Amino acid sequence: MSGMEQMLVENRVFNPPKAFAKQAAITSMDQYKAMCKAFDKDFNGTWARLAKENLFWKKPFTKVLDESKAPFYKWFEDGLTNASYNCIDRNIKNGMAKKTAIIFEADGGEVSKVTYQELHDRVATFANGLKKLGIKKGDRVVIYMSMSIEGVVAMQACARIGATHSVVFGGFSAKSLQERIVDVGAVALITADQQLRGGKALPLKTIADEALDLGGCEKLKHVIVYKRTGGDVPMKAGRDKWMHDVSAGQPKVCEPEWVSAEHPLFVLYTSGSTGKPKGVQHSTGGYLLWAMLTMKWTFDLRDSDVFWCTADIGWITGHSYVAYGPLACGGTQIVFEGVPTYPNAGRFWEMIQRHKVSIFYTAPTAIRSLIKASDTDPAVHPKKYNLKSLRLLGSVGEPINPEAWMWYHKNIGGEKCPIVDTFWQTETGGHMITPLPGATPLVPGSCTLPLPGIMAAIVDETGGDMPNGQGGILVVKRPWPSMIRNIWGDPERFKKSYFPEELGGTLYLAGDGAIRNKKTAYFTITGRIDDVLNVSGHRMGTMEIESSLVANPIVAEAAVVGRPDDMTGEAIVAFVVLKGKRPTGDEAKKIATDLRNWVGKEIGPIAKPKEIRFGDNLPKTRSGKIMRRLLRVLAKGEEITQDTSTLENPAILEQLKHAI
Ligand code: WT7
Repeated sequence: MSGMEQMLVENRVFNPPKAFAKQAAITSMDQYKAMCKAFDKDFNGTWARLAKENLFWKKPFTKVLDESKAPFYKWFEDGLTNASYNCIDRNIKNGMAKKTAIIFEADGGEVSKVTYQELHDRVATFANGLKKLGIKKGDRVVIYMSMSIEGVVAMQACARIGATHSVVFGGFSAKSLQERIVDVGAVALITADQQLRGGKALPLKTIADEALDLGGCEKLKHVIVYKRTGGDVPMKAGRDKWMHDVSAGQPKVCEPEWVSAEHPLFVLYTSGSTGKPKGVQHSTGGYLLWAMLTMKWTFDLRDSDVFWCTADIGWITGHSYVAYGPLACGGTQIVFEGVPTYPNAGRFWEMIQRHKVSIFYTAPTAIRSLIKASDTDPAVHPKKYNLKSLRLLGSVGEPINPEAWMWYHKNIGGEKCPIVDTFWQTETGGHMITPLPGATPLVPGSCTLPLPGIMAAIVDETGGDMPNGQGGILVVKRPWPSMIRNIWGDPERFKKSYFPEELGGTLYLAGDGAIRNKKTAYFTITGRIDDVLNVSGHRMGTMEIESSLVANPIVAEAAVVGRPDDMTGEAIVAFVVLKGKRPTGDEAKKIATDLRNWVGKEIGPIAKPKEIRFGDNLPKTRSGKIMRRLLRVLAKGEEITQDTSTLENPAILEQLKHAI
């Protein structure tokens, strides 16, 4: 049985532990239903109440939801607020100046902490430094840093002065970085000399220099460098400054820039089904409101918790559940620089023990690799560590297979921690479909039910409702405050990608397939329905990888597909036609390695195909369309049973059948 089939027949149910439910923010399904009903009865009024209760407004909003230019929805637009004020100053005013905001653990194990007051002072001085450089409200700032307190400070400082940040994951290449700097029109880049991961120093500043040398970044005037390792990096006079010099001598008071709730807090690039990554634009007020509410509802965050989300700030998870959500709720959280397998595969468990982590949120791919590691090396088995501090576990980024769920439940959660399997996306800003840990009975492999206020549904190709038990297209029927506002600079693409006419133009199209259980109405996500792959929880467009392959001078044509993979969820398989002769044997192996490295250099290591196969041609219809459907079957190593009579060149299938 495939993982997906197994999920669909899964019938184990895990009720919320009584002790958990008793203290939880949402303690029963009745309470959940009442919350949903409140939205059904008064959608705008309920959102307005929550926005007033949860956020500080310098000037209160008078309008809740503006649908006049749908699908360009606006929330709380005439309200003035500031994300950094809500995340920091407000907590200090509430008596939390001395509370630990961030516990940072470095790759090598060194631990440092900042209180809310210290975080405030670092953000305020750096924000003042940015202003002194001339960076102002509405400017875009690209952040290319690793996991660090300084990374969070950089994001918060931008938010404080109303500059829109765009964080680029430290694993992306110079070219990917340059494309994003150009697309977003950044005036400044904040980076680090080097980043440390698994004992290795990676040259962030050098890559940043390469990116800027690629050209097109004329608007960019400043490169600000956080000195992480003190490694030898060239600094360009006039352009480059050290982060500590920018902050030095600046006052610790920085009046926040009060912005409209609709002011773009950030743009975060993600992969779509066409070649170019999309700059997902998020708001300030609606975004932060949902980051807070999901911290309270999904994670049941309390004052005494130590919260740890292992995601990098380069992804949306690191925005909502590292840089903003936990701070906005006055929480204490872990920020971790390193990797789960260094110095050994017990690192996560050791850190949970050391810092008494109570809420732990990670990706299925990490869990699966740690299961494997603990099977082969008993010394790093979780039972060697004291994990009693844990009270709640979370999963994000891809479907969690029931086997991994059970292991997580038993070995990490000690059979007493609920697991929240949170379905959401870069575009949704925060959780959409997820259990509530004190209320929802859990079924392994199902993200269960939509959060209150989220009108998720399953429809057919024309937008008509599907009955439970039948799979279809996942949509959201009403807007919600933290939804994507636009694709940066491309409103047409925004409309076409997310509110397609085929579905009537009003439904938000998530891009995933899903099915609801006949009895429980629980959702199971069945995977992307577009050309987007999910490799280790990282989102990759097949077209993006194809474009980078054909940019190589020896490549004539390429088609990229996904194949199910036990470890990484999906694996990238590329079918390539060279301009010269089809290579075989050792030559094929060498060229495949070169091409993998090429893609790594063009996009980043996460985009490297796991496997490359060479053909004299690709399977095409007579009109020249590549039959990816068949390539998917070949990539899986299965026999082709589909009709191939429309193929122009059926013989090619035999050639592409075997790995090199
Ligand atoms: C895609 C979004 C969610 C933030 C990190 C990834 C897949 C995400 C789940 C889940 C099944 C999931 C979907 C989605 N996905 N969470 N709990 N169960 N699938 O954000 O990079 O924008 O990717 O990740 O396919 O569309 P992203």
